[in-house]
Amino acid sequence: MISLKPDSAPQMNPPKVRYIYRKSGLAPFFWRAGRLILRCLGVQDVHDWPCWFGELCGIDVPFPSGQPGRMAHILEKLRRVGNVPGAAAECGVYQGASLIPIAYQAKKIMPSKRIYAFDSFAGFDDSVMSAIDQSGEKSSRKSIGGFGNTSIALVRSKLRAFGLEKDVQVIPGFFEESLRHLPSERFAFVFLDCDLYESYQICLEFFYPRMNPGAVMVFDEYDDPAWPGARKAVDEFFLDKAEKPIVPKFPDRAYIVKV
Ligand SMILES: C[S@@+](CC[C@H](N)C(=O)[O-])C[C@H]1O[C@@H](n2cnc3c(N)ncnc32)[C@H](O)[C@@H]1O
Repeated sequence: MISLKPDSAPQMNPPKVRYIYRKSGLAPFFWRAGRLILRCLGVQDVHDWPCWFGELCGIDVPFPSGQPGRMAHILEKLRRVGNVPGAAAECGVYQGASLIPIAYQAKKIMPSKRIYAFDSFAGFDDSVMSAIDQSGEKSSRKSIGGFGNTSIALVRSKLRAFGLEKDVQVIPGFFEESLRHLPSERFAFVFLDCDLYESYQICLEFFYPRMNPGAVMVFDEYDDPAWPGARKAVDEFFLDKAEKPIVPKFPDRAYIVKV
């Protein structure tokens, strides 16, 4: 297992460069340029991706402020399942900020694993209404179509820029439908980042029985005050299961290990 190393020197807040290309259509060019620069600098490991690279490429780097951020913890969970048979899956892709480092790391340390990425790529449907009714913190994304400013083309293009297009199967659609495409798949790693009570419920019911012993499922919003429905769904689901959510400190994420 890797250790979550703190960087020696805290990094300065990176300049916000995303606006330069956000609407320009040049994003893939910047993604490729960023990767090329890293290669020239000899940076091979996802854990060494610098902040500016994350900003440039719209991805979550493991050590955003010199300390382990959420992605460092998620990647550490991914490493644990290196010997567990089964695929890896992310539910809730949005623009691929977490998918890219997860897929990059998975390809490097367990190249034979299949990787699936599920999202509507149209944002939330009307099940977001229950999140609006719940007493969570306000979020501008809490609306029908929230997180809808993405597309499958954008995510595929980002995967291509990172040389991952053949490694990740992107399955668009609402989970209720899209998960049905994989009735007999088994899983070693599942990352749930889909905010809503109903979405968590659907994913838990689908993935849990398909997880092999030792498999890990990570819940991104278990401790997120904006999305209390996520924790509610997880707690309800594991009430009668052998596994109970392990809740480390922020920014680590709650997770379970399948017995
Ligand atoms: C918080 S975003 C994901 C963020 C992404 N993992 C990242 O780190 O950048 C949540 C995503 O879940 C997706 N989502 C939520 N419920 C869904 C459902 N029932 N079916 C399909 N996609 C869903 C939304 O479309 C949205 O893109």
